[in-house]
Amino acid sequence: AKVTFITQSNDEITVEAESGSVMQLAVENGIEGIDGDCGGVCSCATCHVYVAPEHQHKIGAASEIEQDMLSLDDNVNEYSRLCCQIDVSDEIDGIILTVAV
Ligand code: FES
Repeated sequence: AKVTFITQSNDEITVEAESGSVMQLAVENGIEGIDGDCGGVCSCATCHVYVAPEHQHKIGAASEIEQDMLSLDDNVNEYSRLCCQIDVSDEIDGIILTVAV
């Protein structure tokens, strides 16, 4: 699946993978602002992204643990997700994610 990240410097970077999490994909490609400090276990929120409104349907709802973690983040909004909790799959092909501050 192809995933496009819009970074804090407004760069648009499209990367591709077949599996793994979106956070891993971002870290492997050095996407600025996605650190993945906790290794993807939903406990750091350094993988915070905003999912484009028109792409919300491509991913399921956030789990309760993810929502709890997000609620601790000052920059949370209705489009927020932790991208370590999003799996790379055909379903998300073409998704656009804005890296949160
Ligand atoms: Fe830590 Fe996603 S990498 S919450």
